[in-house]
Formats: sequence, structure tokens, C-alpha cells
Amino acid sequence: MSAFQDLPRWPQLADNDIEAAVAALRSNRLAGSGNSTVQDFESALAAGQGVEHAVAVSTGTAAVHLALHALDVGPGDEVIVPTHTFIGSASPVTYLGARPVFADVTPDTHCLDPDSVKALLTERTKAIVAVHINGCAADMEALSAVGAAAGVPVIEDMAQALGTRSGGRPVGGFGDLACVSLFEQKVITSGGEGGAVLTNNPGYAERLRRLRSHGEGPIKGRPGLIWAHEVGYNYRLTSVQAAIGLAQHARLQELVEARRHNAARLSERLAGVDGLELPVEPAGTTHAFWKYVVRVVPGEGRPPAAEIAATLRSRGVPVLLRYPFPLHKQPAFAEHQGVSLPVAERLSQELLALPSHPGLVEGHLDHVADEVRRAVAP
Ligand SMILES: Cc1ncc(COP(=O)(O)O)c(C=O)c1O
Repeated sequence: MSAFQDLPRWPQLADNDIEAAVAALRSNRLAGSGNSTVQDFESALAAGQGVEHAVAVSTGTAAVHLALHALDVGPGDEVIVPTHTFIGSASPVTYLGARPVFADVTPDTHCLDPDSVKALLTERTKAIVAVHINGCAADMEALSAVGAAAGVPVIEDMAQALGTRSGGRPVGGFGDLACVSLFEQKVITSGGEGGAVLTNNPGYAERLRRLRSHGEGPIKGRPGLIWAHEVGYNYRLTSVQAAIGLAQHARLQELVEARRHNAARLSERLAGVDGLELPVEPAGTTHAFWKYVVRVVPGEGRPPAAEIAATLRSRGVPVLLRYPFPLHKQPAFAEHQGVSLPVAERLSQELLALPSHPGLVEGHLDHVADEVRRAVAP
């Protein structure tokens, strides 16, 4: 049995995170729309991503939902979403009565392919959701150009990409709106669940704040009174979550550097393994390596990725098949089954995410790399 049968798990909260949560509890200011800890967290997030406004919400899925709602997505509309992503990128389109239109991804970055988007645009297209998958920056220059030419706004889904940069700038400020997830596994967490919508547009920010809290807001000419301007949701973050988020956010750079260090170590140890393609970092970008994803190139005598994953798991290395079911092939989106998205369909049989989180030390990573090498090229 391996000495690394039980690799450390993620997340690992620091004492600071826990003390911040306790202090928020002791404050007896736990929730509500004007909560100052939530506002402090929003200011830190906005400043960190170089945007004007951050609106904290209860999950990343709620963030996508509110971003789409702020763009007035509704029945009869189409929203283009990559098929190679987590379902939370797409399900909110359906909540609003609109239709997700699944697009293909590029073979190297696994992010939304601008050419695929271009081919799917119609007069009903209301938004494009560009996902920075695994922490790799999507090609926002090309995607924004496609959106701008068609007059269609672009939402960045940066659930996996706090810490990702492009052209020296953090992601989140390239699209009209951007969605953050603070789920426990993400680059940073607000204590299990959480999210935020980022924007430079003050009109969207005001609407997002209102939608997050039942659609309620001040009444013009009636100081001190509020009412519901429209039907909204309760998607607020609590002060305890915001306090943990703030403490974690202070360590964002350190955590991203640890992920990048671990990715570099794995790449060094896996270089030259026959049949294994290592993750790419597009020129001019910084990959946050929320996931370190390798491609098993099909070849004679080489086991397929699913078999390699099973072997690795049996040896105590918790690898994941990376989206073995593209969204358009899942029962939830049964009406899209006939669509052909060849790159994502092929990748769904070939990608593996290896353990690489900041809780792992070099010994763990070397062990992971040795086991992968042994399983891929036995
Ligand atoms: C790409 C992507 N979008 C959206 C979400 C939804 O975020 P949450 O789990 O916080 O609702 C996730 C979370 O896993 C994600 O990875």
C-alpha cells in the first residue's frame, strides 16, 4: 500500500479564516442587505479584479443566474454556453425560460471556441457565456470581438479562475459581467458556498443588488422606504461567509502561486511521458491552475483515460475524469443530444484532472507524477 494512500484534501482553512468567522458571529450582525462585512468583501473583490462593482451572492450558480437576469434573458432567447463546463454555467439559462445553445471548445485550452460561437449566433442570441475553464483564460479578445460584432454581451464565468490573468489584467473585467464561485473547492472559499457578480456597469450593479434581495430598493421621493421594483431572489451572502471570504481573499495571491508552483512541479515530472499532453498556458496569460488537466492521447496499447483513472484511484491517487459527459449529452439537456460538438466530445474521453491543490507538498506531487507515468506508459 502506498505511503500516500491518503493525500491531503482541499480546502484547508487557516486559523485566520476561522477567527474571522467567529468575530463575525460575535458581532451579531449576521445578514441583511446593508451588511458592512459583506460590503468590505465586495470592495476587496472588486479592487482585486480591477472592476468597479462586486455584488456578493450565495453561490456561483446564483451569480450566473443574476448576470443573465440583469441582461433581461428570458423566454425565446438563446444563450451560447460551452458544452465542456460544469452545469452551473448553463442551468440558469433554463431557469429564466431561455434556451442554452451549446458550443464547442478549442483543443488546446478547452475554453469556448470563438469560431464555434460565431457559427451559432442567431437573432435570438441574447448572451455568450465564456468560461475560463480550469483557471485557463478564455480568448476574451476574440470572444468579445464576436460578441461586439453581433451586439451580444459576454458574461465571463470565472468560477474556476480567481487568480487568472490575461494581458497582465485579472479576468473579470473583460466581459460585460463576470461570475465568481466561492464553493469550498474553489481557489478561495467563503466557507463552503458563495459567489459574486463583477461589472464595470453601474446600472447592472444596481439591478444585481436589487435582484439579490427580493427585487427591493429605495423609492424615488420617499426617503427611508423601500419596495419591490420587480420580483427578485434571496441570494444574499451572510456576514460569516463574507468574513471568511475576506480572510481567504487576503491570501489569494499566495494560494494561486502555490497552485502554479505545484502545476510546474507536475509538468516537470511528467515531461516526455509518451501519450500524455500537459496543460498549456496561452501566451500572455497567467493560468490559475484550479485544475491541472492532462490529455491521454489515444494510441495503440495505451489504456484509455477512464481505465487509467480507475488504476490510479485503486493506487490511492484521486484523479477525476474531466467532464466525461459534455452538457449536451446529459439527460437534463436531452433535446440537445443530436448536436455534434466534436472537440468536446473527444476530450470527454481523454482528460484527467490530477491532484495539485496547495495542500500538497513536493513529495505528494512527485508520487502523483510517478503513478501517472506508471499508469499511462506501463
Ligand atoms: C464553471 C463553473 N460555473 C459555475 C459554477 C457554479 O458555482 P457554484 O458551485 O458556486 O454554484 C461552477 C462551480 O463549480 C463552475 O465550475
